[in-house]
Amino acid sequence: MPGSERSAPGTGRGHLLRSIARRLRRRGGRSRQAAGGGITVGTMGTAEERREELKAVWQQASACTRCPQLAAARKTVVFGSGNADADLMFVGEAPGAREDEQGVPFVGQAGRLLDTLLGEIGLTRGEVFVTNVLRCRPPQNRDPLPSEIDNCQEYLFRTLDLIQPRVVCTLGNFATKLLRGDQTGITRLHGREEIRRIGPRTVRLYPIYHPAAALYTRSLLDTLRADFSRLPELLALDPPAQPQPVAPEPEPVVPEPEQVEEIEATRVLEHEAPETQLGLF
Ligand code: URA
Repeated sequence: MPGSERSAPGTGRGHLLRSIARRLRRRGGRSRQAAGGGITVGTMGTAEERREELKAVWQQASACTRCPQLAAARKTVVFGSGNADADLMFVGEAPGAREDEQGVPFVGQAGRLLDTLLGEIGLTRGEVFVTNVLRCRPPQNRDPLPSEIDNCQEYLFRTLDLIQPRVVCTLGNFATKLLRGDQTGITRLHGREEIRRIGPRTVRLYPIYHPAAALYTRSLLDTLRADFSRLPELLALDPPAQPQPVAPEPEPVVPEPEQVEEIEATRVLEHEAPETQLGLF
């Protein structure tokens, strides 16, 4: 800038200001990303480490009161069950009365059908992980409310990030709409796998009908069975390529109060460029 005594790039007060501005800008970008799923960094670590972390998420969810109506009425928080290092994860809708009593997802009639279908493809509950969009039972088994889905989704995304399944099978509309991020219904989507980025990971997403729907509408059972029978084929495919994990940001340098005063003084003296221009250097 003509007439001003700017410091050489990489040194002095101008550099300090630019560096703070850059870091704050990056933090802004990352927190916007967090609003879409609460996760910005892919979890690494051994299966044992991820499992330990999953237990911590479970503990956190167990004390959750984000949905006051659900928290007041529940007997237990139904976090999920199965293998914490599973290749296949199922996501249902919400716990019912039996699940609420036992603290385990899919233990009622729909759960028995899920077990039967798993058995038909040579799998057991202990080999997969089963969870839901909601971790608490909605009163009278009503549909989950948008606010409840919003409140609970962080637990689902963190679970997904920690288990790292290759295939995520959504059971019915609620899970499918949440994980695809759009309103297309299960009737159009069932049985069609797609590669999807969910939070920091890429998975093979495979929407199928909810087992409860097949209990109510018997004609859907054949469709559900046919869709289910493709799971071994999907599990045998190579895992989808993962995005590069984003390295954690270093903490921003917060200047001491006397430094701030010094910086402000420098700004006046040097007619410092507005903050939006700092990133150009
Ligand atoms: N239906 C669901 O969606 N989840 C359960 O856990 C039980 C029934």
